[in-house]
Amino acid sequence: MTERMGKRRSQRWYAGTDRNSYIHRAWMRRGLPDDAFDGRPHVAIANTASALVPCNMHLGDISRSVANGIWEAGGVPLDLPVMSLGETQVRPTAMLWRNLAAMAAEELFRANPIDGVVLLGGCDKTIPALLMAAASVDLPAVVVPGGPMLTGHFQGEPLGCGTDVWRLSEEVRAGTLDPLVFAASESSMIRSPGHCNTMGTASTMAIMAEALGMTMPGTAGIPAPDSRLLERAQATGRLIVDMIDADRRPSQVMTKASFLNAIVTLAAVGGSTNAVVHLLAIAGRLGVDLSLDDFDRTGSGVPLLVDLQPAGRHLMDDLFRAGGLLAVLREVQDMLDPGAITVTGKPFVDHLADARIWDSEVIRSRAEPLLGEGGIAVLRGSLAPDGAVIKPAAASAHLLQHRGRAMVFDSIEDATRRLADPDLDVDEDSVLVLRGCGPKGYPGMPEVANLPLPAKLLARGVRDMVRICDGRMSGTAYGTVVLHVAPEAAAGGPMGRVQTGDMIVLDVPARRLDVDVPTDELARRSPARDAVGAFANPTRGWERLYIDHVRQADTGADLDFLVGRSGHDVARESH
Ligand code: FES
Repeated sequence: MTERMGKRRSQRWYAGTDRNSYIHRAWMRRGLPDDAFDGRPHVAIANTASALVPCNMHLGDISRSVANGIWEAGGVPLDLPVMSLGETQVRPTAMLWRNLAAMAAEELFRANPIDGVVLLGGCDKTIPALLMAAASVDLPAVVVPGGPMLTGHFQGEPLGCGTDVWRLSEEVRAGTLDPLVFAASESSMIRSPGHCNTMGTASTMAIMAEALGMTMPGTAGIPAPDSRLLERAQATGRLIVDMIDADRRPSQVMTKASFLNAIVTLAAVGGSTNAVVHLLAIAGRLGVDLSLDDFDRTGSGVPLLVDLQPAGRHLMDDLFRAGGLLAVLREVQDMLDPGAITVTGKPFVDHLADARIWDSEVIRSRAEPLLGEGGIAVLRGSLAPDGAVIKPAAASAHLLQHRGRAMVFDSIEDATRRLADPDLDVDEDSVLVLRGCGPKGYPGMPEVANLPLPAKLLARGVRDMVRICDGRMSGTAYGTVVLHVAPEAAAGGPMGRVQTGDMIVLDVPARRLDVDVPTDELARRSPARDAVGAFANPTRGWERLYIDHVRQADTGADLDFLVGRSGHDVARESH
């Protein structure tokens, strides 16, 4: 252990006999023994647990197991509460603060005497924010996802978090479900600790962390209450100590090859469209040249193998029971880059050899996929010059090539009010266009793109229509929804110039999204005033900073001054 003295980053704080090292050590002697400062690795456990983030409430238990593993391997675990975001709780949208959470975590990792960090996240924005921070600091880092909750049942049927809320609430609006029955289902939906149990954004980002190589292989998707998650957390505690000794850092693990593997994985599991903005943002922190088009190029041709809501039927504990992520990826191993490594230091593909499918209803074989193509399609055209995305697996096949009259809404409040109007001039061929919901416009790019259908059409049995938005959609949602349109209306994009009655042309096979209006006429129109900042005019604070600096969705919606890395050196002392 003594040969470690002086080599560790933490020893820049603790080694020596001068006044400053005295101060750094003395204030930490509240339970830490003398030999805690002898050159052992000091490991932060970045914990996003909070009573206001219900999906992450249980992370304290996981943290204790990680800490045991760190002690066991000769390290010193240090609990580090970091900013957390509860998807269901915060207004106007958790995405407004993903970059703030990432920035705060980055600064904490850099400012403190630590040699590595274990990242504990779960609810949608928490794993992306932690990975963005870890990428910018580039100290050894590993993720332990908090895991999905167990499946709740109501009246004998399983309930998928999120997906069934959207489905049942539309049935109430259509008059086919008693509102009291809908309300009664509420207490059955959230059965246990853990994040949403559909293939929503939280499940997807846990899986993305693993596909990027940033978890111990086989960890993502272990249900939150499953004892094997604590076992894995303890093993991760041991692993981070090895990673620090090997100086294995995020920039060595999250390479372009790892991102392309993540895109293949995203398609194979039918993951959330939100992964697109998060992966682009993480790649931007690392200087990895990842573009929106990589999602289409690499993801197209990858079969959808996982039959999970919202694209399919089952839920996350079914996926784990059926063999888990590694069993899925074994089916598409030939599509993965064998050069990408994981936090273990070994190639990702080496961890697939023992994986097996135990339930082929949940995880399909390559020969019998749920769909031939599970990837996210990237569209461009006169309505989305910088791109837009759609998840064909969650859309209606008959709407993937569609021409229809635009019905334009300048805000979600405008849409909610008018869509309830039985006299709204709209039919099933209309295209609902919602603007003012991009990163700058809302601000924060909320999950509102899956607009509720017009009440009068719901009553007629219509269950899907083409919807287009510069915002995002919940990973648990479904429908023929084109989202992340860039540039957004508030950034001067053509979305701001579309008018009700314009013809919209969607052609997913051709990857096109156009408004059938002559270019010069579109350019002559004034942008709709209400869609470019009616709600987004703060004079101070984070919202002002965010609006002034946020980039568009096609590059990950990070702040312009947070792109890239600052590393972990801190030259100056505090006293
Ligand atoms: Fe937290 Fe869905 S609300 S993961």
